[in-house]
Amino acid sequence: MKAVYLLPFVVALCLGNAITSRKEKDLEWWESTIFYQIYPRSFADSDGDGIGDLNGITSKLEYIKEIGVGAIWLSPMFQSPMYDFGYDISDFYAVHDEYGTMEDFEALTKRAEELGIKVVLDLVPNHSSNESEWFQKALEGDEKYYNYFVWEDAIIDEDGNRQPPNNWLSHFRGSAWEYREEVGKYYLHQFVVGQPDLNYRNPDVVAEMENVVRFWLERGVAGFRVDAVNCLFEVDKNLHGGQYPDEPLSGAVGVSLDDHDSLDHIYTKNQNETYYVVYDWRDVLDEFKARDGLTRVMMTEVYASIQDVVKYFGEGDRKGAQMPFNFDLITDVDASSSAGDIKRAIDKFLTYKPLDKDANWVVGNHDNSRMATRYGSSLVDGINMIILLLPGVGVTYMGEELGLVDGYVSWEDTVDPSGCNTNDPINYGKWSRDPERTPFQWNAEKNAGFSTADKTWLPVAEGYETLNVEVQRAAERSHLKLYQALAALRQDRVFRHGRFESLALNQDVFAFRRWYKGEVYLVVVNMRDVEHDVNLTYFENVSGDVKVVLRSIQSQKNEGDKFPAASLPLAGFESLVLKVK
Ligand code: GLC
Ligand code: MG
Repeated sequence: MKAVYLLPFVVALCLGNAITSRKEKDLEWWESTIFYQIYPRSFADSDGDGIGDLNGITSKLEYIKEIGVGAIWLSPMFQSPMYDFGYDISDFYAVHDEYGTMEDFEALTKRAEELGIKVVLDLVPNHSSNESEWFQKALEGDEKYYNYFVWEDAIIDEDGNRQPPNNWLSHFRGSAWEYREEVGKYYLHQFVVGQPDLNYRNPDVVAEMENVVRFWLERGVAGFRVDAVNCLFEVDKNLHGGQYPDEPLSGAVGVSLDDHDSLDHIYTKNQNETYYVVYDWRDVLDEFKARDGLTRVMMTEVYASIQDVVKYFGEGDRKGAQMPFNFDLITDVDASSSAGDIKRAIDKFLTYKPLDKDANWVVGNHDNSRMATRYGSSLVDGINMIILLLPGVGVTYMGEELGLVDGYVSWEDTVDPSGCNTNDPINYGKWSRDPERTPFQWNAEKNAGFSTADKTWLPVAEGYETLNVEVQRAAERSHLKLYQALAALRQDRVFRHGRFESLALNQDVFAFRRWYKGEVYLVVVNMRDVEHDVNLTYFENVSGDVKVVLRSIQSQKNEGDKFPAASLPLAGFESLVLKVK
């Protein structure tokens, strides 16, 4: 046969392949699931001490399964004196005693595996606790451990008084330097005094943290969320005459001079060296993958410019995190945002991420006011539709499936250092992270079913009698039921592989289209308590009728109802998933 006859065939074959490789590559477990963040202290208390624990989590894994989640990430459950509620780790290789034992952890991972749920831990590499053996040994003059930390000489002022080496500030207010008599120097703590920064210019520290990573991977975890990773390195002081330079003022308005935001953190954040440490961790994760074929994931916690955030994906042939957290839906928008603002916030990550990497969508965590509080309870379904049906990985902070709101925590009950360090019984609420950490709401019983204790570590939020899992399970329609339906729908090939386009249909109505091989879905979210009639034919290839697939709980429409795409009536705050064809 002459080659020319083969040509059309070959061309067709090549085209076919090109399309397959772009759109239909098999998704890995982490790309199609939902990651559900559990704050262990607040999820479920099994032993009645008012504090959540590992056995509590294990007892609720079936609930996780029931809502359609395939992976949990646990905020730190390592040994800690709890000055920053677990982010100050005194033993990176042990389970915190209030939370249980290593056996309890093994039971948790075993049950999770039976249910097909992956477990991801929080890696806190930037600092240890001042009660860690490492820091204690450093104080005793052990050179190896002294070099684990960042020490500087005092500056003696004109009056002969000792002053911190420079103006650097803690995230939790005041100087980032603390003097230790035993050593005769200041140590750096970018967070609370009890969180001395580790020195990443010391290869021993790098090796130690890799060891921590391996230790927990050996115990079956599927990866790590990496805490405050853009704080790992401080500027190389040798480039500044051997002294850490002051940071310039940020010029932020209405911010006091002891507030972290008052400085521009050019010397303590986002230093170039950071990325290579992250890429090295990825190599360790991939080493484990090479053993058994299971991809271990890394999610990095970085609040920075989008240009810096996407560097965590990798560089050239160095791989980095699969999920540099995308916080734009926390930091850039809220209840007051217009549909255009939402569109811009969503498009941002999609625009900057490398084409062959996945986006991820986060609307809440233990450091930020809860999603239902920030966006308003009426938008809970709309926001869950957005984060679960956009292209990429969905992340849920525990309770978002129910629309849990921030609890009120009085000054007397406030325990978060970010609130306490304000020393301001009136305005502490602006900084305290306790409200988003109040106990999970399981049912209408004592302490919302979280604990049998007389006092829980934080008070249970008001209104739990009607806002809880049991009520929403029993209801015909609820945020929980909708969440489950969305979790199932996101497994559809259109949401797994389909393309994406978004529009602000007007000031108030945000919408996006997902399509794949002739199938088309639309998600429409009315962000205001105002009725609208919207024309969906502004989307290409949308005409004729659209059919209701899922609707927010305030919608009067029924599943299966049809409306002309050119004129869809929307009630206030109504959100819909529609099928076009
Ligand atoms: C991260 C954590 C936060 C903690 C801080 C210090 O931002 O999410 O809760 O206080 O790091 O570890
Ligand atoms: Mg307990």
